[in-house]
Amino acid sequence: MLYTRPPKVEVVEGDVLEARVSDIVVPVFKGGDGNVKLEGIVERADSLTGGALSRAVKAGRFKGDVGEVFTGYTDDGRAIHFVGAGSEGDEEAKRLENARNAMAAAVKGIVEKSGEAALALKPLGSAGAEGLVGALLGAYRFEAFKNEKKAKLSKVYVDLDRGEAGEAVAVAEGVYLARDIANAPPHEVAPPRLAEKLRDLFSQLENVEVEIFDYDRLLREGFGGIVNVGRGSEEKPRLIVIKYNGGEGEPIALVGKTLVFDSGGINLKPSQSLYEMRADKAGGAAVAGAAWAVARLHLKVNLVALLPAAINVPSGSSYLTSDVIRMWDGTYVEVTNTDAEGRLVLADALAYAAKALGAREIIDLATLTGAAWIALGPLYAALFTRDDTLAKSIEESSRRTGEKVWRLPLVDEYKVMLGRKAPLGEVANAAMRAGGAICAALFLERFTHGKKWAHIDIAGPGIGSDAGPMAPKYWPQNLAPGWGVRLLVDYIKSKASTAK
Ligand code: BES
Ligand code: MN
Ligand code: ZN
Repeated sequence: MLYTRPPKVEVVEGDVLEARVSDIVVPVFKGGDGNVKLEGIVERADSLTGGALSRAVKAGRFKGDVGEVFTGYTDDGRAIHFVGAGSEGDEEAKRLENARNAMAAAVKGIVEKSGEAALALKPLGSAGAEGLVGALLGAYRFEAFKNEKKAKLSKVYVDLDRGEAGEAVAVAEGVYLARDIANAPPHEVAPPRLAEKLRDLFSQLENVEVEIFDYDRLLREGFGGIVNVGRGSEEKPRLIVIKYNGGEGEPIALVGKTLVFDSGGINLKPSQSLYEMRADKAGGAAVAGAAWAVARLHLKVNLVALLPAAINVPSGSSYLTSDVIRMWDGTYVEVTNTDAEGRLVLADALAYAAKALGAREIIDLATLTGAAWIALGPLYAALFTRDDTLAKSIEESSRRTGEKVWRLPLVDEYKVMLGRKAPLGEVANAAMRAGGAICAALFLERFTHGKKWAHIDIAGPGIGSDAGPMAPKYWPQNLAPGWGVRLLVDYIKSKASTAK
């Protein structure tokens, strides 16, 4: 949504098989016996193609596995893409993921060919709207910096309720925004530019205010973590605060690590680790995307998204290893490693959310540690919280959305090391290598000042580009998937008051 919008969606009454478009997508289920079910709309579509599907099934050329596509043609030259959508008897979470994967796979095959397509989503039952989300996400292309644009698909016709379709579009827009931010070349979205772009974008929405803390203000108000991490770049840091007022009471705060680029700073990373560090802003990207979707959906909730945005590079003005920095909440942090920068910018934003914004609870997303990525790989994020109820709600949203989290412990015994490694200050920003994701989480916890809080380390799925064939089909290849938007929106939806 900085660069890319999802295809337009139009609701059609009646039969999608009658749509006058070049491409029609029809999901196909397997029965209990594992065989393709040739019933209902599948049967009618099959006969429109002169029985092409049933022949393919008979010949063993189409098994109906999730995401498998078989294309037949009608007499008037329209393509019907049959796509395997799993078994109707699958449990709910799996049906939702199958619907997203199936529709994404089908759309990926036509996004560069077709201007308009019709999607049969009703056969997916309660997973219909998720099917649309999958289709829209599967259509994503990052083409802002290509002269020749390949994506042609501009509109899809769907047989959903208007409300369901609208929700799917809002969520897809949020994910598009997150993908655009996470994948953008660093200088295109240097902190001052990112701030302006988000201010412009969100000005379209009702009940949303964007507040930008510029460098002078960050200095004046003592945001030592953000200032020090960002001071080495000519493009100075910003704290971007997106406020959505849709309900009553204290806001839920979302905090997203927004390292527009993380070179490691004076503790410079080796070359092979640098390239993907443009996606070190994936946390901020996700919370911005979630705020967008929540505001578009007019959810009855107050929400604040905080994006501490900085570029971590070595220069004559960079912060130095063994500097001691005074954080926004007054804590003195000894910098034992300038590459442990995420926790410094997050700490200021967390403390500000807890103490100045009076958040009722805080969730942060951050590509925080290589350790979380090594532990869980590209598909799982590490979830940390002391609050079992909060963990449970997030895990439920995780199951519904297919954005996978795995809970790791906050190990109290490890806390002592933060102080032990800081002879000059009160705590070290990096204390030990073993249990790196846990130590980072423990560092953050200090700055939440007792608030209800969850930390999600998205180092694996936030970057995601190494997921290759393991990735869901609605993820873009070699790009950040915009991970966390759908999880957060689902979670916030479950918290928002349902009163109209
Ligand atoms: N952004 C990185 C973490 C990261 C690495 C995310 C690889 C995704 C893929 C973070 O700022 C970092 O450099 N963390 C260090 C911390 C260490 C110096 C204590 C790490 O994990 O090595
Ligand atoms: Mn780093
Ligand atoms: Zn980083």
